[in-house]
Amino acid sequence: MIKIYAPASIGNVGVGFDILGAAIIPIDGTLLGDFVTIKLSKKFTLVNKGIFSNQLPADTEQNIVWKCWLRFSRVIKKNISVSIVLEKNMPIGSGLGSSACSIVATLVAMNELFNKPLNSKELLLLMGEMEGEISGSIHYDNVAPSYFGGLQLILEDSEIINQKIPHFKNWFWIIAWPGIKVSTSAARNILPKKYTKEICIKNSRYLSGFIHALYSQQPDLAARLMQDVIAEPYRTKLLPNFLQAKEKIKKIGAISFGISGSGPTIFSITDNISIAQKISLWLKKNYLQNQTGFVHICFLDSQGVRKIG
Ligand code: HSE
Repeated sequence: MIKIYAPASIGNVGVGFDILGAAIIPIDGTLLGDFVTIKLSKKFTLVNKGIFSNQLPADTEQNIVWKCWLRFSRVIKKNISVSIVLEKNMPIGSGLGSSACSIVATLVAMNELFNKPLNSKELLLLMGEMEGEISGSIHYDNVAPSYFGGLQLILEDSEIINQKIPHFKNWFWIIAWPGIKVSTSAARNILPKKYTKEICIKNSRYLSGFIHALYSQQPDLAARLMQDVIAEPYRTKLLPNFLQAKEKIKKIGAISFGISGSGPTIFSITDNISIAQKISLWLKKNYLQNQTGFVHICFLDSQGVRKIG
């Protein structure tokens, strides 16, 4: 029996639409992500557990875990019967890479169970493909960090899909999921098909400057350059009082603020724990829309997917 945990992640990281992603872990050590337990069995079974299992489709064949199992079996050309337990701890449509958590945990678990028939690049390509099925287009900014950990730059070069890049270890990332759902494919569909030259230049400047600031260890510059000119202007309307929250949180002292993935989770950054706690409190009181919403103060999780037990 194999049990795998795959962490939640922040897609885009504000400045790198579809090409930057960061795995996260709450500073109190809670594991924020999905768990998949798998073993060989006579016939295929899938049991959904966890706080958000009620959000999963009733039809097993619509469950991404089932789709991953089917795809993996076809790729390795084996008819495989397994029993899977999915512990769905991540809310669906939260902007925290919920589908990526299930995809990464399932495919890694399957690969482990069969003594690693696929290498990490083949596995990542499959993860991207499965993610594409859910969101309408392939993007690696959640699956890559959930798999490999840390801050990931998606290259999609002919040889190399992704690489880990440095991050500031003293940054606290405060994430707040308001308790409502935003569909990733809908949030992608509202984006323009084309951008002006001015926006393209701005985006290149912010992103290249951010990467430069990471490598040259300039945290303040990096934080200032985390500007989203691609998605944020169009997605704010999907989020509850986003602009008011942004203004307030910057006033409290955050050095950066943005939408996590396609939202509605938002993230803010500070290197000061008491500011992080103030932000967390404000978000709990003002950004959460219901009892299921949550706020966590996180670090980036360097490890990524792991075996449990
Ligand atoms: N990069 C993707 C998007 C992430 O923003 O649409 C989705 O979580």
